[in-house]
Amino acid sequence: MTVAEKRNDLIIRFGGEGGEGVISSGDMVSQAAVRSGLEVLTFKTFPAEIRGGYAMYQTRFSHDKIMSEGTGFDVMVAFNQEALDNNVKLLSEGNVLVYDYPGGDIAEEQKIPGVTCYAVPMTKIAKEDLGTLRSKNMVAMGAVAELFAISMEQIRGTIQSKFGKKGSEVVEVNFKALDAGRDHVRNNIKKTDPYQMDPGKTAANTIILSGNDAVGLGALLAGCKYFSAYPITPATEVAIFLSRHLPKVNGALVQAEDEIASLANVIGASFGGLKSMTATSGPGLSLMQELIGMASMMETPLVICDVQRGGPSTGLPTKHEQSDLLLAALGCHGDASKVVISPEGVEDCIYLTVEAFNVAEKYQVPVLILSDGSLGFRTASMKQPDPKSLRIVNRELYNPSNGGEFKRYKVTESGVSPMSLPGMPGGAYICASLEHAESSAPRYTAENHTMMTDKRFGKLKDLEDFFPATEADVQEGAELGVITWGSTIGVAREAVADLRKTGMKISALYPKLVWPLPMKALNAFLAKHKKIIVPEVNKQGQLAKIIRMETGADIISYAIYGGMPFSPKMLADKFKEVSK
Ligand code: COA
Repeated sequence: MTVAEKRNDLIIRFGGEGGEGVISSGDMVSQAAVRSGLEVLTFKTFPAEIRGGYAMYQTRFSHDKIMSEGTGFDVMVAFNQEALDNNVKLLSEGNVLVYDYPGGDIAEEQKIPGVTCYAVPMTKIAKEDLGTLRSKNMVAMGAVAELFAISMEQIRGTIQSKFGKKGSEVVEVNFKALDAGRDHVRNNIKKTDPYQMDPGKTAANTIILSGNDAVGLGALLAGCKYFSAYPITPATEVAIFLSRHLPKVNGALVQAEDEIASLANVIGASFGGLKSMTATSGPGLSLMQELIGMASMMETPLVICDVQRGGPSTGLPTKHEQSDLLLAALGCHGDASKVVISPEGVEDCIYLTVEAFNVAEKYQVPVLILSDGSLGFRTASMKQPDPKSLRIVNRELYNPSNGGEFKRYKVTESGVSPMSLPGMPGGAYICASLEHAESSAPRYTAENHTMMTDKRFGKLKDLEDFFPATEADVQEGAELGVITWGSTIGVAREAVADLRKTGMKISALYPKLVWPLPMKALNAFLAKHKKIIVPEVNKQGQLAKIIRMETGADIISYAIYGGMPFSPKMLADKFKEVSK
């Protein structure tokens, strides 16, 4: 093998048929890389079926902080003909193709101008030498590890932890498969490509989490004690994570019969004093609308995580889209006050979930977290959070020893009125969906409804100061300003950084509070820039619409809706085009 040039950044894409272990391979290589001290960020997309269809896992390694999945890939590992066909057009000068040949599904030896092609007979080795096709993906892993200097020892560790529960025979055959893939490369392939990742410095307390796990971890750190949900892709992993960990903190998790029941359970648990949460995806959020309005009317603190997916209806359940913003912000009937927060990356999912609980508890409102399929399934490495450094806010409680009459909906200067808990002496009140007087008794007069509606909206007046999570990255002299949200933020950060390296002046605003809009930060940003562009992954340009509605500003919407996120190059090209 010739000595290859060391790289600081490498993107490997694995493609194959759902069911043949593409996702496991990607997960394991990524974990091994983190354990070797590298920064990692992954992206996966797979069919809605359990078996069959095209599954893809992309992992980006770097010695530096990674902001997005990146543009394209450097190395393609094709497990079958479909994966090769889907990606062959994307292979460009300097890329590497590792493919299952001969003896597998790929019919012909590959010779692609400018592309280094390495044939590894994954199927043949797995079937003929190891006696189990199941281990084909580990043959591929061994080859990839040897080719690009990913630690075999660390991959062995991930095999042990992932397949250990399937029994020692499964672990053993996978170890053998890994060695067989490595040996095939050692004995048959002359490495001519430049890709080789040196291990990084393993930082203490580094963890690797998915976006969905990170939401679960954030909930635990915030003090969540009750979670109820109905399974739905791509949100189910939030429940799976919490089912493992909530019992350790004396919390409870209930799988409900549907999304309506799950939110009803959450409302009940919060009424009883517990920090409570549910997680769902688009169709589930549609079903919850009536009860979100009820929580808003009853001023019940709670958190709903919506892991958005391609819609409408069951739509594209495993694909990426940011198309629930209008539903989350404006979906309820009546004038319902609520808050919508959107994290940009996996680490953010931890801290913004903590903040979602803080906002819910402080203002006694339903708070929605808008994650998405790409973010929920993505894994990334990060520093383990320090619980002591977190701000944790708890709801203001009625104090019976202060005496005086308890009025659950007392109109106060802040708009927030202390809550009582069931059983508190003198704290009984009517917690129901009807409009109510300060005492909580139903009342429908014009004056009362006006006063109570003003209370429910007015209490959010200092929200932007309490939750100042809008980042303005303003460059003096820039005429173009980018505003974007959720997981598109990371891609925009990378595009903006790349353009600045070329000398272009460009600013960006990254709001994490997406409803109500952070008007102070937004207006200041709008005033400084001649042109504003809002990229987002939905047809209607939903954030662009909301900004126009709230500010009247002239906005250029850049909307894509193909089930995939933007790449930094797509954004950089568009920003250059509109800045002319
Ligand atoms: N040895 C032993 N077992 C192995 C293995 C190996 N070398 N490689 C993989 N496996 C196991 C995995 O552990 C996994 O088993 P598990 O289900 O018990 O965890 C299984 O084989 C599938 O492998 P995995 O790598 O996780 O996935 P894949 O790349 O083969 O793709 C999916 C399969 C993910 C596409 C498919 O199973 C799926 O879940 N589709 C989505 C379904 C969905 O959400 N639909 C939407 C409904 S609305």
